[in-house]
Amino acid sequence: MKINPVRGTHDLFGKDIEKFNKIVFEVKKTAYQFGFEELITPIFESTELFRKPLGEQSDVVLKEMYTFKDRNDDEITLRPEYTTPMIRAAISNGLLNKLPVKLFGTGQMFRRERPQKGRYRQFNQINFENFGTNDSFADVEIINLANLLIKKLIPKKKIKLHINSLGTRENLDNYKKILTDYFNQNKNLLCSESKDKIKLNPLRILDSKRIEDKEVIDKAPVLLEFLSKENLNDYEQIKKCLNELDILIYEDPTLVRGLDYYCNTVFEFKTNEIGSQDTIIGGGRYNGLIEVLGGKDIPGVGFAGGIERIMLLMDDISFKNQHIHLAILNEKYKTHALKVYDFLIKNNYSVYWNYKYNLKKSLSIANEKKANFAIIIGEDENINNNFTVKNLSNGDQRVKDLSNILEFIK
Ligand code: HAM
Repeated sequence: MKINPVRGTHDLFGKDIEKFNKIVFEVKKTAYQFGFEELITPIFESTELFRKPLGEQSDVVLKEMYTFKDRNDDEITLRPEYTTPMIRAAISNGLLNKLPVKLFGTGQMFRRERPQKGRYRQFNQINFENFGTNDSFADVEIINLANLLIKKLIPKKKIKLHINSLGTRENLDNYKKILTDYFNQNKNLLCSESKDKIKLNPLRILDSKRIEDKEVIDKAPVLLEFLSKENLNDYEQIKKCLNELDILIYEDPTLVRGLDYYCNTVFEFKTNEIGSQDTIIGGGRYNGLIEVLGGKDIPGVGFAGGIERIMLLMDDISFKNQHIHLAILNEKYKTHALKVYDFLIKNNYSVYWNYKYNLKKSLSIANEKKANFAIIIGEDENINNNFTVKNLSNGDQRVKDLSNILEFIK
């Protein structure tokens, strides 16, 4: 019986695991540096946690959630995102008493989307949230953190930071009315999917990638023109600070994000190097959401990034230290080999013991594993208490003892 993986899921191994682990490692290191603490939440939650907060009309809720009844008839959903579970957990555990609270997490999310490159039904996110402050520096800090992670993980890639401000919830509701009127007036020019969205949520039409919608979207009223003075000041302040930090921004008045809980600052880090699933990291402010989920009226700002999308852009990991392969010619020399094995491991080198005890086989595996050096341990080496070290890239071979082996492999 051959059982295939479920559509939209994938196994991680080999080079991908190295990339995956590097992302998680860098995320944790950077999080601690910025004062964020880790929070791990369950993979499934009550469905009501997601339905209203993400937007009854959002694609995620309408089409993508894995929702089912368990044996007690409780309706549960595999988490499609991390923001609402983090808020739920912060409230459930009384973590919001001393503000601000800065939390991060990494883990699997589930969305029943049409699978393609960079889009899966089970995928992993990195997620950062700052609960409790309206200070515009929190927006700057969160964008700076995301930018820093991108620079660390995919330094050679061209990633563009799109940014917009949606204003307060009242601003946004007002703008939605204006947009509804405008799209109704131009209904005939829109594709049928967008026509359906006019009533449900006209903001979603701004996300449309359909060519027939482009002209209407380009001429649509621009949200920024309807923002209050206070909002505009905040937005200006954020842009100024990002500029100060040398973070290049692209102001994108059509950027509204796919989930309904956003207001004020929204942003996305995008690339044109991995096809249509081009957003690597997305986030923004969600003032009002914590109250909707049963907490106090506390503001919040955060972002999430797709680990698999970052992996698509990453180079293979090259180890800082040389990769060394042991070629032990006979089991009799194991104890002698142990000396160099232990010495190199303690000096942080990556060392591979292949259990073959045969020179030809060992060197062939070393080649396969792309080792930088082979250490050959045979009869002479055993008698003379030394080791033959071979540079596998140029063939240079020297006899060394433990005290001078590092000079040769550095
Ligand atoms: P999101 O834009 O829905 O935002 O997802 C964030 C990131 O997750 C995307 O930019 C993408 O890299 C990755 N992603 C989303 N769906 C998939 C998929 N099907 N396959 C692979 N990767 C995917 C959120 O989830 C918000 N909770 C972000 C946030 C945090 N806003 C404030 N705080």
